[in-house]
Amino acid sequence: MKSAAQLRHLAATIAAAAIIGTAGIATAATTTAPSATPVAPPQVAQCAGCHSANGMGNPVAGFPALAGQPTAYLEHQLYAFKHGTRRNAIMKSFATGLTAADRKAIATYYNSLPVVAPASLPAAPSDDLGKTIALHGAGVGTAHVIPACASCHAAGGLGRAPAFPRLAGQPEQYLEAQLIDWRKGSRNESNLHLMRNIAKDLTAQQIKAVAQYYASLPPTGTSGS
Ligand code: HEC
Ligand code: HEC
Repeated sequence: MKSAAQLRHLAATIAAAAIIGTAGIATAATTTAPSATPVAPPQVAQCAGCHSANGMGNPVAGFPALAGQPTAYLEHQLYAFKHGTRRNAIMKSFATGLTAADRKAIATYYNSLPVVAPASLPAAPSDDLGKTIALHGAGVGTAHVIPACASCHAAGGLGRAPAFPRLAGQPEQYLEAQLIDWRKGSRNESNLHLMRNIAKDLTAQQIKAVAQYYASLPPTGTSGS
């Protein structure tokens, strides 16, 4: 079990790598489209049915928004679906035929799409359990320390390129399913296993609370704080 201090150190290391990696490039805010939107790669016509033509997903069906998510993150997910380190039957079928160049083009395209405010957001949970975990973590002083989600996913859950995706406004059932998938091992990313180590210490009640909290936050705003 990693201590909160170790996890914070890992987070700082990754954040530093992110800053170095993007030095010299005008900050690619995840919420604004660069002036030149790349031409849609041909494959994205198939993705629209679930992730919507504007890339904002389908909250009712639980399909995640892709718009504005970090390019490297999206690229890596498509690789993981194809190679089975992230197991999902639907997405495997769409990712299998994609080459590395396709993944890069698709990820660049979705990253460039502006994040659109949804017509409505689900109500915030009536208690503070999810919010407290998100902002302050849990279990401090025990063998099961949960670091604050915001330390990596940024204030408001808006994410931080290149490694930390936006959580704000994603469908509740999607967020919950991801945390359960890490616990089960069907999502098994190589990113130092940050999320696996966190998810294994969350209870079902904490997972539900934090998923509900992030689903209720607006996905629009300035990221990277
Ligand atoms: C039939 C519906 C459907 C279609 C069509 C579809 N997806 Fe998905 N997509 C999903 C579902 C469901 C998930 C969540 C999978 C999971 O729980 O791991 C997902 C997840 C993703 C993710 C991960 C998002 C994240 O935040 O980690 C990416 C990236 C993605 N899809 C890209 C695509 C691309 C690119 C296409 C088109 C080539 C596509 N999808 C077509 C249903 C679909
Ligand atoms: C030490 C950094 C760190 C902390 C702290 C952290 N995360 Fe993450 N999180 C990540 C990384 C890295 C990823 C991307 C994993 C991947 O590449 O598959 C991620 C991805 C996720 C995803 C998947 C999003 C998507 O679009 O599929 C969810 C959900 C998530 N985190 C929830 C949480 C919650 C809830 C907390 C707090 C209890 C938390 N995270 C704390 C680093 C962190």
